[in-house]
Amino acid sequence: MAKVYISDHPLVKHKLTHLRDKDTDPKKFRELIREITLLLVYEATKDLEITPTAVETPLTTTQGYKLKEPIGLIPILRAGLGMVEGIWEMIPAAEVWHIGLFRDEQTLRPVAYYNRLPVHPTVSVCLILDPMLATGGSAVKTVEILKAWGARRIKFMGLIAAPEGIERLSTQHPDVDIYVASVDERLNKIGYIVPGLGDAGDRQFGTG
Ligand code: PRP
Ligand code: URA
Repeated sequence: MAKVYISDHPLVKHKLTHLRDKDTDPKKFRELIREITLLLVYEATKDLEITPTAVETPLTTTQGYKLKEPIGLIPILRAGLGMVEGIWEMIPAAEVWHIGLFRDEQTLRPVAYYNRLPVHPTVSVCLILDPMLATGGSAVKTVEILKAWGARRIKFMGLIAAPEGIERLSTQHPDVDIYVASVDERLNKIGYIVPGLGDAGDRQFGTG
Protein backbone atom coordinates (compact mmCIF):
# COMPACT_ATOMS: atom_id res chain seq x y z
CA MET A 1 0.00 0.00 0.00
CA ALA A 2 1.24 3.48 -0.82
CA LYS A 3 2.59 5.56 2.03
CA VAL A 4 0.90 8.97 2.14
CA TYR A 5 2.96 11.59 3.95
CA ILE A 6 1.19 14.86 4.82
CA SER A 7 3.51 17.44 6.33
CA ASP A 8 2.60 18.86 9.74
CA HIS A 9 5.63 21.16 9.83
CA PRO A 10 4.77 24.68 11.06
CA LEU A 11 6.89 26.31 8.35
CA VAL A 12 5.04 24.37 5.67
CA LYS A 13 1.67 25.43 7.12
CA HIS A 14 2.81 29.06 7.33
CA LYS A 15 4.13 29.17 3.76
CA LEU A 16 1.20 27.23 2.33
CA THR A 17 -1.16 29.85 3.74
CA HIS A 18 0.67 32.56 1.76
CA LEU A 19 0.66 30.33 -1.31
CA ARG A 20 -3.12 29.93 -1.13
CA ASP A 21 -3.71 33.67 -0.72
CA LYS A 22 -5.31 35.09 -3.88
CA ASP A 23 -3.29 38.30 -3.45
CA THR A 24 0.11 36.56 -3.60
CA ASP A 25 1.82 37.71 -6.81
CA PRO A 26 3.64 35.34 -9.22
CA LYS A 27 7.14 36.23 -7.96
CA LYS A 28 6.23 35.44 -4.35
CA PHE A 29 4.22 32.42 -5.48
CA ARG A 30 7.30 30.95 -7.22
CA GLU A 31 9.46 31.60 -4.15
CA LEU A 32 6.95 29.84 -1.91
CA ILE A 33 6.73 26.80 -4.21
CA ARG A 34 10.52 26.49 -4.10
CA GLU A 35 10.63 26.88 -0.31
CA ILE A 36 7.82 24.42 0.47
CA THR A 37 9.38 21.88 -1.88
CA LEU A 38 12.67 22.26 0.00
CA LEU A 39 10.88 21.45 3.23
CA LEU A 40 9.12 18.39 1.74
CA VAL A 41 12.14 16.87 0.04
CA TYR A 42 13.72 16.01 3.39
CA GLU A 43 10.94 13.49 4.05
CA ALA A 44 10.66 12.25 0.47
CA THR A 45 14.36 11.35 0.35
CA LYS A 46 14.63 9.76 3.79
CA ASP A 47 15.06 6.24 2.41
CA LEU A 48 17.64 7.01 -0.29
CA GLU A 49 20.52 4.57 -0.24
CA ILE A 50 23.98 5.75 0.71
CA THR A 51 27.38 4.19 0.28
CA PRO A 52 30.41 4.57 2.58
CA THR A 53 33.24 6.77 1.36
CA ALA A 54 36.44 7.96 3.02
CA VAL A 55 36.80 11.67 3.71
CA GLU A 56 39.89 13.57 4.82
CA THR A 57 39.17 16.17 7.45
CA PRO A 58 41.91 18.68 8.39
CA LEU A 59 42.74 16.29 11.28
CA THR A 60 42.38 12.75 10.00
CA THR A 61 40.69 10.40 7.59
CA THR A 62 37.25 9.15 8.57
CA GLN A 63 34.28 7.39 7.07
CA GLY A 64 31.61 9.46 5.36
CA TYR A 65 28.76 8.67 2.99
CA LYS A 66 27.59 9.62 -0.45
CA LEU A 67 24.30 9.10 -2.25
CA LYS A 68 24.38 5.79 -4.06
CA GLU A 69 21.61 6.04 -6.61
CA PRO A 70 21.13 8.44 -9.52
CA ILE A 71 18.01 10.51 -8.88
CA GLY A 72 15.64 11.80 -11.51
CA LEU A 73 13.22 14.71 -11.10
CA ILE A 74 10.17 14.46 -13.33
CA PRO A 75 8.33 17.81 -13.32
CA ILE A 76 4.92 17.65 -14.99
CA LEU A 77 4.74 20.73 -17.23
CA ARG A 78 3.97 23.38 -16.62
CA ALA A 79 3.27 23.69 -12.90
CA GLY A 80 5.80 21.09 -11.73
CA LEU A 81 8.67 23.20 -13.06
CA GLY A 82 8.66 25.48 -10.03
CA MET A 83 9.44 22.57 -7.71
CA VAL A 84 12.70 21.65 -9.46
CA GLU A 85 14.76 24.51 -8.03
CA GLY A 86 13.91 23.57 -4.44
CA ILE A 87 15.18 20.02 -4.87
CA TRP A 88 18.23 21.06 -6.87
CA GLU A 89 19.36 23.09 -3.87
CA MET A 90 19.59 19.82 -1.92
CA ILE A 91 20.46 17.40 -4.75
CA PRO A 92 22.29 19.41 -7.42
CA ALA A 93 23.24 16.28 -9.36
CA ALA A 94 19.63 15.21 -9.90
CA GLU A 95 18.72 14.72 -13.56
CA VAL A 96 15.57 16.46 -14.80
CA TRP A 97 13.29 14.73 -17.30
CA HIS A 98 10.24 16.79 -18.31
CA ILE A 99 6.82 15.33 -19.05
CA GLY A 100 4.28 17.63 -20.71
CA LEU A 101 0.63 17.04 -19.86
CA PHE A 102 -2.38 19.29 -19.69
CA ARG A 103 -5.86 18.53 -18.44
CA ASP A 104 -8.62 18.65 -21.03
CA GLU A 105 -11.05 21.17 -19.50
CA GLN A 106 -14.15 19.19 -20.47
CA THR A 107 -13.14 15.60 -19.71
CA LEU A 108 -10.46 16.43 -17.07
CA ARG A 109 -8.36 13.70 -18.69
CA PRO A 110 -4.62 14.32 -19.14
CA VAL A 111 -3.38 14.99 -22.67
CA ALA A 112 0.30 14.22 -23.28
CA TYR A 113 2.25 16.72 -25.42
CA TYR A 114 5.93 16.36 -24.45
CA ASN A 115 8.16 13.41 -23.61
CA ARG A 116 11.86 13.15 -24.49
CA LEU A 117 12.82 10.31 -22.17
CA PRO A 118 15.78 8.35 -23.52
CA VAL A 119 15.24 4.72 -24.52
CA HIS A 120 16.52 3.26 -21.25
CA PRO A 121 16.17 4.68 -17.72
CA THR A 122 19.22 6.63 -16.55
CA VAL A 123 18.09 7.00 -12.93
CA SER A 124 17.18 4.61 -10.11
CA VAL A 125 14.73 6.81 -8.23
CA CYS A 126 12.13 9.04 -9.93
CA LEU A 127 10.50 11.92 -8.06
CA ILE A 128 7.42 13.12 -9.92
CA LEU A 129 6.84 16.82 -9.21
CA ASP A 130 3.46 18.50 -9.55
CA PRO A 131 1.99 21.00 -7.04
CA MET A 132 -1.58 19.80 -7.61
CA LEU A 133 -2.96 16.25 -7.30
CA ALA A 134 -6.61 16.84 -8.21
CA THR A 135 -8.41 13.94 -9.95
CA GLY A 136 -5.06 12.15 -10.03
CA GLY A 137 -5.27 11.63 -13.80
CA SER A 138 -2.03 13.48 -14.60
CA ALA A 139 -0.06 11.73 -11.86
CA VAL A 140 -1.35 8.27 -12.85
CA LYS A 141 -0.52 8.95 -16.50
CA THR A 142 3.01 10.03 -15.56
CA VAL A 143 3.57 6.92 -13.46
CA GLU A 144 2.42 4.82 -16.42
CA ILE A 145 4.89 6.62 -18.71
CA LEU A 146 7.73 6.09 -16.22
CA LYS A 147 6.91 2.43 -15.64
CA ALA A 148 6.75 1.80 -19.40
CA TRP A 149 10.18 3.49 -19.56
CA GLY A 150 11.46 0.93 -17.06
CA ALA A 151 11.58 3.06 -13.88
CA ARG A 152 11.41 0.89 -10.77
CA ARG A 153 11.24 3.29 -7.79
CA ILE A 154 8.81 6.16 -8.21
CA LYS A 155 7.56 8.71 -5.68
CA PHE A 156 5.09 11.56 -6.10
CA MET A 157 5.75 14.97 -4.54
CA GLY A 158 3.03 17.61 -4.54
CA LEU A 159 1.87 20.58 -2.52
CA ILE A 160 -1.92 20.23 -2.37
CA ALA A 161 -3.93 17.06 -2.99
CA ALA A 162 -7.63 16.29 -3.13
CA PRO A 163 -8.80 13.10 -1.40
CA GLU A 164 -9.96 11.88 -4.82
CA GLY A 165 -6.43 12.22 -6.25
CA ILE A 166 -4.80 10.43 -3.32
CA GLU A 167 -7.34 7.61 -3.61
CA ARG A 168 -6.84 7.20 -7.35
CA LEU A 169 -3.04 7.32 -7.38
CA SER A 170 -2.62 5.05 -4.37
CA THR A 171 -5.18 2.52 -5.64
CA GLN A 172 -3.80 2.32 -9.17
CA HIS A 173 -0.13 2.48 -8.11
CA PRO A 174 0.20 1.25 -4.51
CA ASP A 175 3.98 1.11 -4.95
CA VAL A 176 4.21 4.91 -5.41
CA ASP A 177 4.54 6.81 -2.14
CA ILE A 178 2.94 10.26 -1.97
CA TYR A 179 4.39 13.35 -0.21
CA VAL A 180 2.26 16.48 0.07
CA ALA A 181 1.93 19.63 2.17
CA SER A 182 -1.85 19.33 2.53
CA VAL A 183 -4.84 17.17 1.66
CA ASP A 184 -7.74 19.55 1.08
CA GLU A 185 -11.50 19.03 1.36
CA ARG A 186 -12.67 18.09 -2.11
CA LEU A 187 -12.83 18.76 -5.83
CA ASN A 188 -15.42 21.18 -7.16
CA LYS A 189 -17.61 20.54 -10.23
CA ILE A 190 -14.90 21.66 -12.66
CA GLY A 191 -12.14 19.60 -11.04
CA TYR A 192 -10.47 22.31 -8.97
CA ILE A 193 -9.25 21.56 -5.47
CA VAL A 194 -11.21 23.35 -2.70
CA PRO A 195 -10.02 25.40 -0.87
CA GLY A 196 -6.85 24.89 -2.95
CA LEU A 197 -4.98 27.79 -4.51
CA GLY A 198 -6.55 28.10 -7.96
CA ASP A 199 -4.56 27.26 -11.08
CA ALA A 200 -0.98 26.52 -10.05
CA GLY A 201 0.42 26.93 -13.59
CA ASP A 202 -1.26 30.27 -14.24
CA ARG A 203 -0.30 31.64 -10.82
CA GLN A 204 3.39 30.74 -11.29
CA PHE A 205 3.70 32.00 -14.83
CA GLY A 206 1.39 35.03 -14.56
CA THR A 207 -0.91 33.69 -17.26
CA GLY A 208 -4.20 33.62 -15.34
C1 PRP B 1 -2.65 21.02 -13.44
C2 PRP B 1 -1.67 20.52 -12.40
C3 PRP B 1 -1.62 19.05 -12.68
C4 PRP B 1 -3.03 18.75 -13.08
C5 PRP B 1 -3.71 18.13 -11.89
O1 PRP B 1 -2.06 21.13 -14.68
O2 PRP B 1 -0.42 21.13 -12.47
O3 PRP B 1 -0.70 18.68 -13.69
O4 PRP B 1 -3.64 20.01 -13.41
O5 PRP B 1 -4.97 17.72 -12.21
P1 PRP B 1 -5.39 16.19 -12.22
O6 PRP B 1 -4.90 15.58 -10.97
O7 PRP B 1 -6.90 16.27 -12.28
O8 PRP B 1 -4.82 15.53 -13.45
P2 PRP B 1 -2.80 21.84 -15.92
O9 PRP B 1 -3.52 20.82 -16.74
O10 PRP B 1 -3.61 22.98 -15.42
O11 PRP B 1 -1.59 22.33 -16.80
P3 PRP B 1 -0.50 23.49 -16.52
O12 PRP B 1 0.38 23.00 -15.43
O13 PRP B 1 0.19 23.60 -17.82
O14 PRP B 1 -1.24 24.75 -16.16
N1 URA C 1 -4.89 22.06 -11.32
C1 URA C 1 -4.67 23.23 -10.67
O1 URA C 1 -3.76 23.98 -11.05
N2 URA C 1 -5.45 23.53 -9.63
C2 URA C 1 -6.44 22.73 -9.20
O2 URA C 1 -7.12 23.07 -8.22
C3 URA C 1 -6.66 21.52 -9.89
C4 URA C 1 -5.86 21.21 -10.94
